Amino acid sequence: MIVPVLLCGGSGTRLWPLSRKSYPKQFADLTGDESLFQASARRYSGADFAAPLVVTSDSFRFIVLEQLDDIGMRPADVLIEPEGRNTAAAAVVAALHVAQQDPEALILIGPSDHAMEAPGSFREAIVRGSAAAREGRIVTFGIRPDRPETGYGWLEAGETTHEGVQALTRFIEKPDAARAAELLSDPDNLWNAGIFLASAGTLVEAFKTHAPTIHDSVQAALQAARKDLNFTRIDEALWAEVPEDSIDYAVMEKARNVSVVPYDGHWSDLGSWEAVWKETEKDALGNGLSDNATALNCKGTLLRSEDPGIEIVGIGLENVVAVAMKDAVMVADMSDSQNVKQAVTLLKEKG
Ligand code: GDD
Ligand code: MG
Repeated sequence: MIVPVLLCGGSGTRLWPLSRKSYPKQFADLTGDESLFQASARRYSGADFAAPLVVTSDSFRFIVLEQLDDIGMRPADVLIEPEGRNTAAAAVVAALHVAQQDPEALILIGPSDHAMEAPGSFREAIVRGSAAAREGRIVTFGIRPDRPETGYGWLEAGETTHEGVQALTRFIEKPDAARAAELLSDPDNLWNAGIFLASAGTLVEAFKTHAPTIHDSVQAALQAARKDLNFTRIDEALWAEVPEDSIDYAVMEKARNVSVVPYDGHWSDLGSWEAVWKETEKDALGNGLSDNATALNCKGTLLRSEDPGIEIVGIGLENVVAVAMKDAVMVADMSDSQNVKQAVTLLKEKG
């Protein structure tokens, strides 16, 4: 059995104004009739999986329970981070929690805000990776790159060790543009999907070796955790001592026992409105329209009203994204939609 660990602590400002601190994108119905969080929970369910362990913040604890209940699921536990300390802390707190019961148990740590196709094909990839994970490897999942992306981790795949599993020769987190272009030129290189499979014990050991300060401080904070209803509240004062870093920099770039399962199915981390547009069902002219949205002489637009009381109408637009909420409206050129993050920073500065 594999224990899915669903990370849902990020605030996803790249999809502002829909996604924000109080209601990040994983809980919204972005591309279908269930939330990304629900789709992720369902993807990692079925015969090979135990109930999920959710790592989230205090403000989302009830949304998590409600959304799981909606799809007939219950978490094994919900670990509450007093504040986000990035993915290294979130991953090792989950690994330590599972290892207390069974260090041999396999855990699959993944974000809850990505879009993937029907669950079956990725489940097969996970099962392929589990043989290596049982032998003490940390298994990553590799996506075929189609551009020199600097916002992802890159994987250099080496020799095949198990069917459909290759040893990793290098993990390069967020390379600069020149390096990314170089990496793209070798067809063996893949993007890191940000999903990791390992035994709880293997992951704990990797943190002990490569990120001992994070390991020790997280362990102390977890030992002082207290149970509150269905939640496990990590100690706030001790958690504040945990250094902030991503699992990619803290461990994955350094560990030598890493493998990769190349995955050819569809994957998107929905990191921009353009990526959401690509995932959205469109009319004949390529317009992705929500309820309450109307397009007249438009081409290649994404027009979304996130409020039943607001109509949105586009006329003569091309490659434009417009998102209307009760308290904010965002309009951008589709190709500029990566810059939403900068706009959010600007708004914060304005106060
Ligand atoms: N619980 C919790 N706590 N979750 C968190 C925290 C935290 O403090 N910080 C981030 N997350 C969640 C986010 O919500 C997201 O779903 C996931 O962890 C990954 O974090 P990101 O901040 O989105 O990472 P990234 O996109 O920069 O990079 C990672 O993902 C890429 C693929 O999308 C890396 O793993 C890259 O190597 C990878 O290519
Ligand atoms: Mg991300």
